[in-house]
Parts: sequence; C-alpha cells; structure tokens
Amino acid sequence: MSTPMILDGIAVAAEIKAEVAGKVNTLVERGLRPGLAVILVGSVAASEIYVRSKVKTCGELGIFSEMLTPPESVTTEELLAMVEGLNARDEIDGILIQLPLPAHVDTKRLLEAIAPEKDVDGFHPVNVGRLQSGQPGLQPCTPAGVMEMLKRRNLPVAGKNAVVIGRSDIVGKPMAMLLLNASATVTVCHSRTVDLPRYTREADILVAAIGRPGFVTADMVKPGAVLVDVGINRITNAAEVAKFFPGDAAREATFAKRGSVVVGDVDPAAFAVSSAYTPVPGGVGALTIAMLMSNTVRACELRRG
Ligand code: GUN
Repeated sequence: MSTPMILDGIAVAAEIKAEVAGKVNTLVERGLRPGLAVILVGSVAASEIYVRSKVKTCGELGIFSEMLTPPESVTTEELLAMVEGLNARDEIDGILIQLPLPAHVDTKRLLEAIAPEKDVDGFHPVNVGRLQSGQPGLQPCTPAGVMEMLKRRNLPVAGKNAVVIGRSDIVGKPMAMLLLNASATVTVCHSRTVDLPRYTREADILVAAIGRPGFVTADMVKPGAVLVDVGINRITNAAEVAKFFPGDAAREATFAKRGSVVVGDVDPAAFAVSSAYTPVPGGVGALTIAMLMSNTVRACELRRG
C-alpha cells in the first residue's frame, strides 16, 4: 500500500487564517472591525488554554476580542444578563460561551439566549435547524473545519460511506449532518452501537469523536480509508505511551519533560492502513480556532457588511 497522506491541520488552518486576515483588512478599511466576546466561567485549566489561544488568534488576524471571566459561582441569571449585554453591542459580532459550564448553570438556556446571528459556535437551535435543513448559517467550528480540510485537500465526500463515531451536539451530530449535506452516505455510531467494527470497516471516511485514547484500532479500518481523528486525550502513564508510540523517541522525550503526551481516538498503528489521516496533535485541533475566526468575520459581514 502507498504511504498515507498526512492531513496537516496546522497548514490548512494557516491557509484559512490568511484568507480571514484578508477579509478583516477589507472590513477595517470600511471602518468595520470584527469583534468576538468570549465568556469563560471559573478556572478549568483546559478551557483557559483554549480561550487564551482563541483570544491570541483574534489579535493576530486583527479581530477585536474581549474576554469575560465570571467566577465559578456565577448564576444562570447573571450569565443571561451578560449575554444580553453582548447581544445589544453593535461592535460585538460573535459571542462564545466556553463549554463545559459548571453543573449549576443552565447551559441550554444560555446558548438559546445568544442572538443567532452572533452565535459563532453554531450551537443555537436556529443555527442547528439551518444546518439540518441545508440552509446557510453559522456552523459548529470543529466539524466545519473537517469539511474545509477535506475540500482543500481534494478528498471527495459525495457518494462515500462516512462513519462518525460519537454523537455529541458539538462534534458528532453536526459532523454527520455536514457530511450528509455533502452527499455522503452517513452512519452515526456511539457507545451503544452493537458490533462497531462492522460499520467502521465499511467507512471510506471515518471520523472518530469519542474521547477515548486509541479507541479505533487498525483492524477496524478499511484499507485506504480517510481517517479523521477529533480526539484529544492526555495520557499520563508510561506504559500507555509505550503502547501507543512504540520506539517514538520524540514522544518519550515529551513525556519525560511534561509528564503527559496527547493521543487521539485513533491508535497511531491504524494510520498505516489509511490513505490519509489527521495526526494528533497537528490535525483537527488547529482547524477549530481557524473556523471560529472565519465564523466571526462571516457574522460581521452578514450583520454589518
Ligand atoms: N468546549 C470544547 N469545544 C468547544 C467549542 O467548540 N465551543 C465552545 N464554546 N466550547 C467548547
């Protein structure tokens, strides 16, 4: 079998960001600077890292950004008031509430309070409905980024068997809908699927979004499939590092330095069976932020352009 193509998400993200920066310049010349507000509740380390990265990328592309950081104890009502304030401000084009929220907060109510035209995450029921009925709208960043990568790397979707493992509202469900809208034959598998390999072995495009390290093994993959790995799992145990990355000196060095390494939902041993795959890290992760920037500029163009 020929050597699989590595789908370099960082390179695709750079292409997208360069285009977004161009659009920002055009808008700024007309006196319109796109703006993003991010709400980060409490102090969850992983969320803080993601949000910092989102704000930093805004700065690089010339997008105005604002971070609101209420404490863990904030109430749903207080957050609703915050969202209403942002809805009313003309210079704010996108509103993002970093998830997950503390258990006492009513996440559904909050997501529904964001004005659909400022919903750069694509989580509002209006945008979910638009996606489902194939109308243009703001679409969830991670699955939209996967579609953008397939398109830019000339990997056809129409007529292909696509299998999505995972049915979350953030990735699995919108991913399935985007693939369906692009004329793939789509199967959604999840934790209750009986005989999962029976489905995955038929997949021309296999998207793993389950959050379990190395869950998709080589025997589950159709030779020549395109593997899209959405998982970001931190492993902190030397035996697991050796299992997933045998003889990988770079990973061992990272582990020695940081005490953990990141592995996706696909066992790296499965990559060799594929025709193309997204590595972890360096695959899908970078696309999410690039698409958030793209959605923010699009929201600005649609509402104020
Ligand atoms: N938490 C993990 N991924 C996401 C995302 O795409 N958007 C938001 N708002 N929170 C997240």
